Amino acid sequence: MEIIIARDYEEMSKISADIIASQIRKKHDSVLGLATGDTPLGTYKELLRLHREEGLDFSKIKSFNLDEYHGLAPLHPNSYNFFMQEHLFKHINTIPANEFVPQGNTEDPEEFCAWYERKIQEAGGIDLQVLGIGRDGHIAFNEPGSSLASRTRVKALVRKTIEDNARFFSSIDEVPRFAITMGVGTILDARRILLVANGQKKAEVCAQFIEGPVTSQITASALQLHSHVTVVLDEEAASKLQRKDYYNWVRDNKQLVHKKIGR
Ligand code: GLP
Repeated sequence: MEIIIARDYEEMSKISADIIASQIRKKHDSVLGLATGDTPLGTYKELLRLHREEGLDFSKIKSFNLDEYHGLAPLHPNSYNFFMQEHLFKHINTIPANEFVPQGNTEDPEEFCAWYERKIQEAGGIDLQVLGIGRDGHIAFNEPGSSLASRTRVKALVRKTIEDNARFFSSIDEVPRFAITMGVGTILDARRILLVANGQKKAEVCAQFIEGPVTSQITASALQLHSHVTVVLDEEAASKLQRKDYYNWVRDNKQLVHKKIGR
């Protein structure tokens, strides 16, 4: 895993947007995996700027979102569908038919999840998957105990996640108890993975998934099994890492390192 420690949220967002932008410039019809949450908001804002001011072109991009609350219609203001429209899609030139977000109110979740996996395959697989992380170490909605080989399916949310996400709803009772989520196995199939995290509240879990053992109790730790992962953290989220000096040395000597490892 490549670990990049940014000064603050702004720099973290800029670095991650640059990684996404260079993927798009390299391959105009890239397939992106996208995430929701507060963390990637700054990244998306920077992508909008690159689109507006530097003509970053999304017209051939396909995107697949990680997850959606089960039971919420796409136009529900708390749905992840709505989030993506508001914070990204309506500001850039993606084609609506190429913006895939799980449909929370599907009548047949099992059939829907199989279809979603098929669509990702038909698109040629995900080139770059963007991830945030939950305080319990989940990626997408793969709560502790999820199989590290899991595929897109319905998952029951744990109490901590329901509490964390209650801030977006008028009361905790309104937070859905289930979600449709890509599995850990689905995520690991992406060619490259970019995880972003910021703030003190993510420090403990970042140390665990980066430097602790691979365990289904912290599903982000499965990223250790992937060959091309970049983690971009702000100083606070990185504050509990043991090997900070090493990560910073690699970052400061990036050109030399890239020359040696051939990336
Ligand atoms: C939700 C999402 C995750 C996201 C996490 C963290 O649970 N399903 O994909 O990474 O929240 O959100 P935030 O970035 O707001 O901390």
